[in-house]
Amino acid sequence: MVSTEIQNKIPEPRAREAAATIPVYGQLPFVPERASGCDIFTTDGRRILDLYGGHAVAALGYGHPGLTRAIAEQSERLLFQSNAVALEVRAQAAEMLAAVAPKNLDRVFFVNSGAEANENALRIACMTTGRKKVLAITHGFHGRTAAAGAVTWNAVESWYGFPRTPFDVEFIPRNDVAAVHDMVDTDVAAIIFEPVQGLAGAFDLSQEFVDALRQASGACDSLLIADEVQCGMGRSGQFFASLVYGVEPDMITVAKSIAGGIPCGAVLASDELSAKIKKGQLGSTFGGGPVAMAAVVAVIEAIRNEDLLQNVRQREAEIREQCIRGPVRSIQGMGLLLGLKCDRPASEVHAALLDHDILTGTSADPAVLRLLPPLVMQCEHVKRLADALADIAPITDTSQDQK
Ligand SMILES: Cc1ncc(COP(=O)(O)O)c(C=O)c1O
Repeated sequence: MVSTEIQNKIPEPRAREAAATIPVYGQLPFVPERASGCDIFTTDGRRILDLYGGHAVAALGYGHPGLTRAIAEQSERLLFQSNAVALEVRAQAAEMLAAVAPKNLDRVFFVNSGAEANENALRIACMTTGRKKVLAITHGFHGRTAAAGAVTWNAVESWYGFPRTPFDVEFIPRNDVAAVHDMVDTDVAAIIFEPVQGLAGAFDLSQEFVDALRQASGACDSLLIADEVQCGMGRSGQFFASLVYGVEPDMITVAKSIAGGIPCGAVLASDELSAKIKKGQLGSTFGGGPVAMAAVVAVIEAIRNEDLLQNVRQREAEIREQCIRGPVRSIQGMGLLLGLKCDRPASEVHAALLDHDILTGTSADPAVLRLLPPLVMQCEHVKRLADALADIAPITDTSQDQK
């Protein structure tokens, strides 16, 4: 821990960050010093249970020996080489990712983030179909770059900032099966959707709706893109939420948990689609870098060797069983991407849980508290959450139910 003497001399990082960076982030009221397992240790001596995982990135929690060793060893052996050369570790990461993806998806294009993955998937769709329209789903979030922002619900109205979008976009009301059949036609290059809408509050789309997206896009030769940046890589209880729904999208995008904390993203596509893309049409300097690739390999190995998919399903069942108490009225979502519907603004529950040293997330739905814990979460963590929720008195006024 930093001594009081040193702390008094160094301005607190929050103040220094606020002075030295473009101030776009609201920040939490603590400063992490180190972390281990699912716990964050702060500079002021707190031990906080992290059920938010740094926006769903910390799949293996903190200090996972397999992951940290893989990163350290790869950094020592070969810190970086671009796609100008082939790398054993890149080949291994691509093979392992394809092996756990839906069976139609055999090819991988590595990038650095979720937005970059979606940007490239949308480019592939426009390029290979020659079409100019993309459909997205209301309440979806896909990132902050030009194409990813264009397909994000409400972005153009609120923060988009570009004078125009790169293609025409229409939004299908979520779970409206009839609208899918009305809106998908042969002008549509792609439909992009999150099987479980993360920022929207872990809202899992209905099976019928996802089936309709697959059916209608197939009938019109439009490409179906599953954005699994948040719900992918084991978080759903399967490697990909598409597998839970039993759909084979034409592309899956993934990032966040994929490398457990090292920036990395990927587009997964079929052999057939990949054959339509020519050399030079896509590219990324850092995409597929060896340290990120070593981390991808370590994350997939840990999910397999430590039976983490089963762990996710077990913790989900316990949370559903034990955590509808205190301010929580119901639970939506899948695996360890869960939305706790509250009887008051979720921000109030978030603050109350933080007073109990438990970090959760809010969402775009003001009533929904979001859980995105590490996939290594244990049953004692669920109990801590349940006990803390029980400490927060429910609102007894039933008129709140109508809201
Ligand atoms: C579903 C989804 N897609 C895309 C993104 C964008 O990812 P990134 O912030 O890595 O660009 C996010 C980020 O929250 C996301 O949740």
